[in-house]
Amino acid sequence: MIGKDSVEGYAIVSADDMIADASGAMPATIRNDADQRFFQAALDRAAAVVHGRHSHEGGPRAGRRKRLVLTRRVASIAPDPSHPNALFWNPAGATVESALAALGAGDGAIAIIGGTEVFGLFLPLYDVFHLTRAARAKIPGGRPLFPQVNPQMTAEDLLAAHGLRGSPARDVDAAAGITLTTWQRQPA
Ligand SMILES: NC(=O)c1ccc[n+]([C@@H]2O[C@H](COP(=O)([O-])OP(=O)(O)OC[C@H]3O[C@@H](n4cnc5c(N)ncnc54)[C@H](OP(=O)(O)O)[C@@H]3O)[C@@H](O)[C@H]2O)c1
Repeated sequence: MIGKDSVEGYAIVSADDMIADASGAMPATIRNDADQRFFQAALDRAAAVVHGRHSHEGGPRAGRRKRLVLTRRVASIAPDPSHPNALFWNPAGATVESALAALGAGDGAIAIIGGTEVFGLFLPLYDVFHLTRAARAKIPGGRPLFPQVNPQMTAEDLLAAHGLRGSPARDVDAAAGITLTTWQRQPA
């Protein structure tokens, strides 16, 4: 939690826990319309969206959403001149609480949407992580969900190590092999 707000991660990964290829592009094999509908609807309900400079979700409703964009180009918190509902935020110079207060985010979920370093930064804080998997896709040499992912450490291992437990996977698009696992923080 951040104050009263739950912290919720959203990602779609390949079978080998990658969110993008080595160049930072998301291959078509991990894009799915049903997952996009789920993701965009969740972001509509969120109090704020948080992401790195390369991970804007796009779509027709994105401009309405309050957002923090992580960047080292600012010292702490600064307006994003091209997006009135967004602030640039450098966690080295300001806490997430102060950035959310400056943003004027209301009560509700704080949606963390990547990329790799940002997903890793919030690992100790997730109350829920919505992990969509494209089981038929593999992205060798790609960008992992979390920086610590390696052949001996899966994304699931990391979520479990940080106190979350996964639900049984449910189909998002059975024909395409896309499933969703909801990882939830367990009471201490
Ligand atoms: N499959 C999925 O669910 C999913 C989710 C998200 C993204 N993606 C894909 O993954 C690609 C690669 O993502 P990425 O990891 O390169 O992108 P990213 O996190 O969106 O952007 C990286 C940039 O964010 C800023 N940043 C990240 N961590 C920071 C920190 N701790 N402090 C301050 N600034 C920080 C830095 O910006 P500055 O250079 O301005 O300092 C950094 O260069 C994206 O382009 C997207 O296509 C996929």
